[in-house]
Amino acid sequence: MFRQLFLNKKKGFLLASILYTLPATAQTPPIYQDSTRPIEERIEDALSRMTTEEKVRMLHANGGYRSWGVPRLGLPDNNPTDGPTGLRPAMEWSNWNNARENSDSCTAFPAMICLAATWNPEIGQLYGKAYSEEALYRNKNIILGPGVNILRTPLNGRNFEYMGEDPYLASKIAVGYIQGVQSNHVAACVKHFAVNNQETGRMHIDTRVDERTLHEIYLPAFKAAVQQGHVWTIMGAYNQYNGQHCCHNAYLLQEVLRKQWHFDGVVLSDFGGTHNTREAILNGLDLEYGTHLGSPEAFDRYYLAAPYLSLIRNGEIGTAELDQKVRNILRMMFRTSLSPNRPWGVLASPEHSTIARRVAEEGLVLLQNADNLLPLDINRYKRILVTGENAMRKMALAGGSSESNARYEVTALEGIRNKIGNRAEVLYTPGYSSHPDANTDSLRNAAVEEARRADLIIFVGGLNKNAGNDSEGADRESLTLPYRQDELIHALAAVNPHIVAVMLSGNPYTMPWKDEVPAIVQAWYGGTEAGNAIASVLVGETNPSGKLPFTFPARIEDIGAHALQAYPGDGKSVEYKEGIFVGYRWLEREKIKPIFAFGHGLSYTAFTYSDLKLDKRQVGKGDKVVATLSVTNTGKRAGAEVVQLYVSDLKSSLPRPVKELKGFDKVFLQPGETKTVTFTLDQEAFSYYDPAQHGWTVEPGKFKISVGSSSSDIRLQSELSYL
Ligand code: BGC
Repeated sequence: MFRQLFLNKKKGFLLASILYTLPATAQTPPIYQDSTRPIEERIEDALSRMTTEEKVRMLHANGGYRSWGVPRLGLPDNNPTDGPTGLRPAMEWSNWNNARENSDSCTAFPAMICLAATWNPEIGQLYGKAYSEEALYRNKNIILGPGVNILRTPLNGRNFEYMGEDPYLASKIAVGYIQGVQSNHVAACVKHFAVNNQETGRMHIDTRVDERTLHEIYLPAFKAAVQQGHVWTIMGAYNQYNGQHCCHNAYLLQEVLRKQWHFDGVVLSDFGGTHNTREAILNGLDLEYGTHLGSPEAFDRYYLAAPYLSLIRNGEIGTAELDQKVRNILRMMFRTSLSPNRPWGVLASPEHSTIARRVAEEGLVLLQNADNLLPLDINRYKRILVTGENAMRKMALAGGSSESNARYEVTALEGIRNKIGNRAEVLYTPGYSSHPDANTDSLRNAAVEEARRADLIIFVGGLNKNAGNDSEGADRESLTLPYRQDELIHALAAVNPHIVAVMLSGNPYTMPWKDEVPAIVQAWYGGTEAGNAIASVLVGETNPSGKLPFTFPARIEDIGAHALQAYPGDGKSVEYKEGIFVGYRWLEREKIKPIFAFGHGLSYTAFTYSDLKLDKRQVGKGDKVVATLSVTNTGKRAGAEVVQLYVSDLKSSLPRPVKELKGFDKVFLQPGETKTVTFTLDQEAFSYYDPAQHGWTVEPGKFKISVGSSSSDIRLQSELSYL
């Protein structure tokens, strides 16, 4: 009988193979290939056809940026790409060296911190969509971004890859970006989950943070990515959280991500962030990248490769977790590389450059503009000195994993020359240099000599994505600008007061020269179109509308983590002693005045705020409050204002920040135009995380609503009672 069954089975198999090879019109595809069937059904069908070995092979890399599919079933490899701001160049197969392929020469979009400074989730969508088209062109189905780790210290080398110090702002911007990326059937990957806020000791540092702080400050952007952005993948962080590596951290991955947030996508490891097979199996890591490179055998030695298989073969571990991991990966594949709706890709198109430029322009923040020096009255200047190394420096192919091989990158000097070179003489001298052997004194003296003869100075400085100056793998040593730039700026301003500072960085820095320089522009790292965006703002073709996504403190001690000497820890662990008081939440509580406050940013026009109304003054649990107000452009230029709404809990049993951002809206207004701005506040806007209940709660009592142009420029206020 067994023999009979075997033969029948064999016949069945033969029949299936014949059917499978018949022309498409005559055969019924297997369920997993049938895109009209629900994804969950297709997943189960594919799973049922896979051997244990094939399943395990799907859980780890088979190249630097590649992991296995199942070729026998026609399931393709998965191909992630760094980083959040444009395609990372292809790497050589056995190491992390640039493979120098021309076909990866792409659009470099502005840094994430610049996107955050737009305060415009809609432009985030355009950004994400454009970038995903480039990913499609390179057959990439996962983009390893956005990064949403909160700026806890301005010394963190990777803040330029993240979205600033406020969880609400980061949440909104991340969601826009994710929706844009995924609308093209490319998975976004929100990273690095979680509490990855410094590069010092990043591979092992044990981050000690209390439960309330975790949920109020460090998790909301991830939660929004999952619940509002419906992100399809998430990357575990390198560091540990409360004693366990984040890539296989039971609390973060099982309790929070899967159980509380119902995440149904893939948890992938940061590259080299996996350290333990059992924990990875049991605590919810699905896909392991970057553990070793170097030889084909290296991939078998991944924690979720041969070691996993032997645990199964020895009967030490079952296959329930394995099936769950493969389900998660297949689900992501059906949403991306196997989606019938996946469009064609486009690389470095003019449309993408236009979007990159729009983001660079909208993110640019006018910090200071004494005597209305900006926009430049070009007819007044005959001889313009551009100075500072950053004026000439290309930034896209630098900084670590978020580097891009930009097809072109317009520097600030080129942008300025493009725009005004035919109307005035534009001279350049470096003024300072990042080269260790540079003679800084003679560079400075040469610039000062030129400055005397110029009728306008445009200084372009800041940080530069070198190690220790906004770069992955190393934090900054101090808040001071490198290469003695402060001395140079003082010296330039002393001989010529007509000076504009254009600062490129992803972090704040000290400005001892603030009162000597009338106009200061924060221009981030603007990507392909950086220089054109800067020039457009300088001459007033673009009216700046960016706002700071972080505070500019006067001194490093004005930041909670530093005031309490809770950074960078002792090499083993770091305790977040300042708790929820991060960024402006700390400065406001301590009544410290920053140089520029969170949310600050000027315009070439002016806006007035009026008529703040709340639709109710008494709010019951579950009620929504609608706040409306009018904003008018009272100046002579069209412009955009980011209207910000902050909530204060006037009396609470746990300490709460003076106020917290709970709404914002970017409003575009013609001269003289008035618009009504509406905010709908739900219970979340008034809640805090109560560690005693392990959840969010709202306390009865009075709340203040403040609306303004920055966290330190509140224009209207009102109050309500929560019942
Ligand atoms: C970084 C990630 C990046 C990965 C892959 C890691 O070093 O932390 O952000 O996506 O490398 O390049």
